[in-house]
Amino acid sequence: TVQVFHTVAELRHWRASQSAQNKTIGFVPTMGALHAGHLTLISSAQKATNTVVVSIFVNPAQFAPHEDLDQYPRTLAQDIAKLPANTVVFAPSVAEMYPRGITTERSKQQGTFIEVLGLSEMQEGGSRPNFFRGVATVVSKLFHIVGPTVAFFGQKDVQQCCVIRAMAEDLHFPVDVRVVPTVRDSVDGLALSSRNVYLTEEQRRRAPAFYRGLCAARSMCLDAGVGGREELLAAVRAEAEREGLDVEYISLSSPRDLSELQEIGSDGAILSGAWRMGTTRLIDNILIGFE
Ligand code: PAJ
Repeated sequence: TVQVFHTVAELRHWRASQSAQNKTIGFVPTMGALHAGHLTLISSAQKATNTVVVSIFVNPAQFAPHEDLDQYPRTLAQDIAKLPANTVVFAPSVAEMYPRGITTERSKQQGTFIEVLGLSEMQEGGSRPNFFRGVATVVSKLFHIVGPTVAFFGQKDVQQCCVIRAMAEDLHFPVDVRVVPTVRDSVDGLALSSRNVYLTEEQRRRAPAFYRGLCAARSMCLDAGVGGREELLAAVRAEAEREGLDVEYISLSSPRDLSELQEIGSDGAILSGAWRMGTTRLIDNILIGFE
């Protein structure tokens, strides 16, 4: 059976009993609307630890006022039904997580926030200025509450993985942060995302063009030795334009510090980007020359 806790006090009480039994805790933070990507993180966690905690919380602090906080799918009962037996769910209310309240308007926010400077401003942070502040804040709260031994994040949100790794190191969280490869549609390669439910049939058909572009660029690099920024970005853009995707940015960045690269070096690169389909915003990335 799946145990569901809604308050910090209940979760902490349960966590203390696990500590008393020397159990290792795997943690998978999510915003719900669970799909096979989330479930892969959960099975990785099950293999690595004694007990798995999944948090389901749509975090207002990581949305901008104009973004989809109100529309974001909330399907707690269906989510719980998808979980393996013995999973523990933490599904707190907004008031429980933000005792001082929370608003998407930064100038009206009160209380304590966590900022990871230097990794939060570029790529996704360029388009979503307060996004990683919201993510780092909620994940640090969750780490404090859950006390995980190992925490699992998806490669799909590669910059989020870098930000959380840095935060865990800077704040000395005794947690091992692990990254799990992106789960994709087996036919057309579209990265699974909770936001894919927003797509019309026609948008869903065109959406995989971005990933085809990422793959084309990686092949140019690995098979033909093309390492220059402009050639690789142009290859992604060409595939995206073939399906008329509204590309917001394409980035070729260093896996070390996410700085933009002119040329792929011996460290390899992250090729990433975002595009819009109507009001829906999607992201994807691929690693080149490293794992
Ligand atoms: P959410 O978008 O629900 O994603 C939860 C976790 O699932 C993240 O680590 C994300 O990278 C991973 N994930 C999503 N789609 C994936 C896919 N196709 N393959 C592999 N992993 C995938 O990311 C968040 O929520 C939030 O920002 C959160 C970390 C929970 C903080 O609020």
